[in-house]
Amino acid sequence: MIAVSQGGISFRVLNEVSMQRRNGSALLEIIDFEAIRNILYGADNELLCLNLFTLIGKSFIVDLCESNDKGEIILTATKGLEGIVATTSSISSIIDGVLTYRGINIDDLAENATFEEVVYLLWYGKLPNRSELSGLIQELNSNAAVPAEVLNQIKLYPKDVNTMAALRTAVSSLALYDPEAGDMTPESNLRKAIKLQAQLPTIVAAFDRIRKGLEPIAPKADAGSISENFLYMLTGKNPEKIAIEALDKALVLHADHELNASTFAARVTVATLSDIYSGVTSAIGALKGPLHGGANEAVMAMLEEIGTAANVKSYITEKLENKQKIMGFGHRVYKNGDPRAKHLQKMSQELGKLTGNMNWYDMSIQIEELVTGQKGLKPNVDFYSASVYTSLEIPRDLFTPIFAISRTSGWTAHILEQYENNRLIRPRAEYTGPSHQAYVPIEKR
Ligand code: ACO
Repeated sequence: MIAVSQGGISFRVLNEVSMQRRNGSALLEIIDFEAIRNILYGADNELLCLNLFTLIGKSFIVDLCESNDKGEIILTATKGLEGIVATTSSISSIIDGVLTYRGINIDDLAENATFEEVVYLLWYGKLPNRSELSGLIQELNSNAAVPAEVLNQIKLYPKDVNTMAALRTAVSSLALYDPEAGDMTPESNLRKAIKLQAQLPTIVAAFDRIRKGLEPIAPKADAGSISENFLYMLTGKNPEKIAIEALDKALVLHADHELNASTFAARVTVATLSDIYSGVTSAIGALKGPLHGGANEAVMAMLEEIGTAANVKSYITEKLENKQKIMGFGHRVYKNGDPRAKHLQKMSQELGKLTGNMNWYDMSIQIEELVTGQKGLKPNVDFYSASVYTSLEIPRDLFTPIFAISRTSGWTAHILEQYENNRLIRPRAEYTGPSHQAYVPIEKR
C-alpha cells in the first residue's frame, strides 16, 4: 500500500496495478469524502480531476490530479480502461481467475445447469425450483414468435449481409412493434427481457433460412429449451439430444461475463434512461467486433485456412513472427487461462469423436501448444467454441449470433440492474489535440 497526500488530504492506495502501469493512476480509498470533493470539483462544481467512476463502498477510481506549471489540472487516460472498476454489480464476478454467476462457480453451472436455469439465476438472483423453471420455459416459448413485420423486413435484407449486422438491425426493429417499448416500469422491462431472450433465436434462425431462399420455421410452442427450439428452427428437424445438450452447455458458458465490452455498451446506453431494446442493440454492435464475440468466427476461418494439422506449425509460427494476433487467445482479465475454455475443449473432443472428424480438434490442440508455448497466451472462450459449433453443423457466420443469443441473458440482467440504481455513465477524455488555436476565416485557409 502506498500513502499519498495532496492538498493536505491523505489517500490510501488500495490497488497498485494501475499505479504501476501509469504514474498517477490509482484506486484510492477516500478518507474524507467532502474534502476530496473540493479537490475533484472546481468552484462551479465542474469535475476537474479524473477518473472518478462509480462509488464503490468508500472507494473511488481516481486518477491523481496532475497540474501543469500554470496550476491547471491535467486529465490523464488509461488506455482501454484497463483495470478500471466502472460499476458495482451483483450478477457475475471474476475473482482470482474464477468466474461465477451470482456467486456460483461456472464449473458447477457448466456441469449441472441448463441455460434456462442460468437465465433465471441471472435475472432473479437465485436458481429456480421446478415450477419456476417450467414457468420460465413456457414464457420463453410463448414469446418466441417474431412480429410478422420484422420477418418481412428480414426478407428484404441483402442475402449476403453480415449476420451480426442483420441481427442488430432486426433487434432494433423489434422495438417498433412492441407497444410497451417505452414503458420504463421494472415489470415491463422484465417482460421485454423475456421477449428479447425468446425472440433472438427466432431471428437468427429465420435470417439463416431466408438468405438460403427457404421459408422461416415458426418456433415450437412446447420446446423443452431454447437450444432445442433454435436447432429445430434452423433445420426444420427435431434435433438430436446430444446436439441440444452441447449447444445448451455452450449457451451456459457464454451467458454472462462481468463488465465485458458489450455489457458495458449496454449499460452505458441504458444509463441515459434509454430503453432496453436500445441497450441490447448497442451490445450486439459491440459483440460483433473480432476482439470480442467476433473472434469465434475468426478462429474457424483460421482453422479452415490452415486446413490440416500438418500445416499448423508453419502457419502459427509465421503469424507470431509477424506479430499478428492468433484469434481465440489472450484475455484482458484472465492472464492464467479462461475457465470456460476447458469445458469447450472437452466438448470439442467429444463431438469430434462422435462425428468421426477429429481434424478441427487436433489442429486446435496443436495451435494451443504452440501459442501457449511461444507466447504464454491461453485459449479464451472463443477458441474451442469454433470447433464445437462446426461439429454441430452450424454455419460459421452464425457463431457470433449464437453468442448473442446466450449473452442476451447477461445483457438484460445488467440492464435491469442498471435501471435499479442508475446514474448517467459519463467519463472524461484526456485531450491530446492542439490548444489556443485561432479561428481562421474560410477565405484565409
Ligand atoms: N495473439 C498474439 N498476441 C497476442 C494476442 C493473441 N491472440 N493477444 C494479445 N497478444 C499480445 C499483443 O500483441 C500484445 O503484445 P505486445 O505487448 O508485444 O504488443 C500483448 O499480448 C497485449 O495485448 P493487448 O491486445 O494489448 O491485450 P488486451 O488486454 O488489450 O486485449 C484481447 C485482450 C483483445 C482479448 C487480445 O488478447 C486479443 O486481441 N485476442 C484475440 C481476439 C480474441 O480472441 N478475442 C476474444 C476475447 S474473449 C471475448 O471477448 C469473448
